[in-house]
Amino acid sequence: MKDTLIKVDNIKKSFKINKRANGLPGHIANLFVPKYEMRKAVDGINFEIKKGEAVGFIGSNGAGKSTTIKMLSGILYPDEGNIEIAGFIPYKQRKAYVSNIGVVFGQKSQLSWDLPIIDSYELLKHIYKIPYETYEKNLKQFTELLDMSSFIEQPVRQLSLGQRMRADIAASLLHSPNLVFFDEPTIGLDVVAKERIREFIRYINREKGITIIFTTHDMQDIEKTCSRLILIDKGKKLYDDSVNGLLEKYSTQRKLKVEFEVDYNIEPIENVVIENKENNKKVFSFSNQNVSIKSLISDLMGRYEIKDMSIEEMDIESVVRKIYEGGIKIS
Ligand SMILES: Nc1ncnc2c1ncn2[C@@H]1O[C@H](COP(=O)(O)OP(=O)(O)OP(=O)(O)O)[C@@H](O)[C@H]1O
Ligand SMILES: [Mg+2]
Repeated sequence: MKDTLIKVDNIKKSFKINKRANGLPGHIANLFVPKYEMRKAVDGINFEIKKGEAVGFIGSNGAGKSTTIKMLSGILYPDEGNIEIAGFIPYKQRKAYVSNIGVVFGQKSQLSWDLPIIDSYELLKHIYKIPYETYEKNLKQFTELLDMSSFIEQPVRQLSLGQRMRADIAASLLHSPNLVFFDEPTIGLDVVAKERIREFIRYINREKGITIIFTTHDMQDIEKTCSRLILIDKGKKLYDDSVNGLLEKYSTQRKLKVEFEVDYNIEPIENVVIENKENNKKVFSFSNQNVSIKSLISDLMGRYEIKDMSIEEMDIESVVRKIYEGGIKIS
């Protein structure tokens, strides 16, 4: 495909884990003949990503997300399979490749602990050979958008987590990459700080056309920034489709909340569970597979006086939880 940016073909990665024998004798034996075990971190993942896409990458702890991001950014090589990004093979052509990408690891700052942020940026300017105009323009814009002017002269060790994260995000973008990997950029942040980062990521994706891969445990991050979602579990891909598609396909349980003018005794409705709430309110629960919400509403409106009503859809978080719990079969 012409506008394909990332092509990942059946990549696998295992890590050697030192398996300790128990007790002192085992310990000593280990010194001479260390026992290893191979742990599969990524076990045959495929996908393609087009230019300009924003893709959410989710999965439980240890699913293989960071390992995948590290292979995509050229930090690790895959044991098997191929990766091609913008015509590069990341781990083989790392030097030429990195000028095209940005990487943010929420768990670990890439900035110097003791240097003022601005000095770390100057260093990056030299490392990446960023042209003067590009650097000045980006620095000015990111300082404004991420509201960094009050702490840009301070070293990382003096910053709050939210400030540090913003400084790291700006650092990863100074050289104007067209692809950015965000590995948990919202980890540990409060709602306001998260929202600021989501807004910024949405901006660089939608306004600047930067392709985004966004790893997170917070489903709100995905709903607010990404249009596509890749769910991985135990090193394998479980789901890969649009965020809306996931909701439409799997969010089958609906709730209709109705406030009636008086406390009616509602006649039973087939396939609908009716709950009575306070103040003439009732909740109608059903699956959209056997009840049409339109006909339910018009039926109720034809029979009763209604004051107010609202529909509650399942959010992406509960859909994903259901997938994990095995409640939803992914084809
Ligand atoms: N350098 C390493 N050495 C040994 N094992 C590793 C290494 N890096 C990752 N692993 C193992 O590989 C598996 C996948 O780890 P990975 O960091 O990719 O998961 P993750 O999906 O990013 O999880 P989290 O949500 O906790 O960040 C885990 O079992 C982990 O222990
Ligand atoms: Mg991780």
